Amino acid sequence: MSEKRKKVVAFTAGRRGGNTEIYVKIALEAIAKMGIDCELIRLHECDLRPCKDCLRGPCYVKGPEACILKDDGPWLAEKFLDSDGYILGAPVWSLSPCGVVTDFRDRVFGPKMDLAMWEQGGIPDWAKGRVKQRPGGLISVGGALTENWTSLGLATLYTTTFSAQTNVVDNLNVYQVADPGEALMREDYMIRAKFLGENVGHAVLNPQKDWENKWLGEMDDGEACPGCHQSLMIAKPGRDYVECAICGRIGKVSFDKDGKLTYVWPEDNKNRLTMMGKFAHAREIELHTQQRFLPHEAEIQDELKRYRTMEDFTVNAPSKTAKASKAKAQKA
Ligand SMILES: Cc1cc2nc3c(=O)[nH]c(=O)nc-3n(C[C@H](O)[C@H](O)[C@H](O)COP(=O)(O)O)c2cc1C
Repeated sequence: MSEKRKKVVAFTAGRRGGNTEIYVKIALEAIAKMGIDCELIRLHECDLRPCKDCLRGPCYVKGPEACILKDDGPWLAEKFLDSDGYILGAPVWSLSPCGVVTDFRDRVFGPKMDLAMWEQGGIPDWAKGRVKQRPGGLISVGGALTENWTSLGLATLYTTTFSAQTNVVDNLNVYQVADPGEALMREDYMIRAKFLGENVGHAVLNPQKDWENKWLGEMDDGEACPGCHQSLMIAKPGRDYVECAICGRIGKVSFDKDGKLTYVWPEDNKNRLTMMGKFAHAREIELHTQQRFLPHEAEIQDELKRYRTMEDFTVNAPSKTAKASKAKAQKA
């Protein structure tokens, strides 16, 4: 019996046929040439509402289909779960990916997809047989001439990868590509997008028991963190170390004889790109609830009720007011 063909699903944001989509399509063409099925989903064309944060609510217990929001969110989650590889591409708007990306992240990923959160209760029925270490590739596209105008692009795309343990094997930060079609004027980025596709394809065809921290992209002088291959650091005065803003690794800082900044990265089990890092976080949450919240929960109930019901300053959006009037009229 022939083996089931592998599938890569690419989620893209930005303009239809825009620069991001062009680089994502170049990557997918390379993957398809490797005999892998490919799908491209335009997030801007999905009906996708923001997550309501009913943590441990229906989607957590029964799976994405049980979400209280009736839109394309569950379908997107199913598309992800049925894939063997993941690509996410988005343009940079005001330093970060455009907004639909964070709605996509919160509806499809987050705690309900978090392998570490299933440690105690076991894998829920809806996820059984669908949990795997998927390789991923991220593409961020900015138009600015100065690279730091894209500072939160890839960083935010990474936030879609922790929970389901998507292991990013390559990423591409494009900048200076602004106008419609300009993607095609940058042969360097086109070659890089093809390379990214081949890297994701290679990882899909050669599943490893453990893809954590396996990197197939370029070793770039500009990158500092060996975990996520990014250089976005939290640096505070009085410390001799930085924390990687994306994966949380700790880097010891020093200056070489020419006064140039160097980092040393000890092995660190708080790296949230790894299962151990996520277990550490799950434990942190549990400890917090047990130690800080539950012992004092009863003390705050009266104040909590007061704030929950307070509407003194609320101004409702016209759409909400219209909905309420329609419901009132239908009732009358
Ligand atoms: C609202 C808005 C904000 C933007 N902000 C940035 C920015 O902060 N940094 C940047 O590099 N490019 C910025 N851009 C430019 C886009 O990233 C750029 O045009 C990109 O090529 C669009 O990709 P697309 O063709 O896939 O939609 C912005 C564009 C828009 C519409």
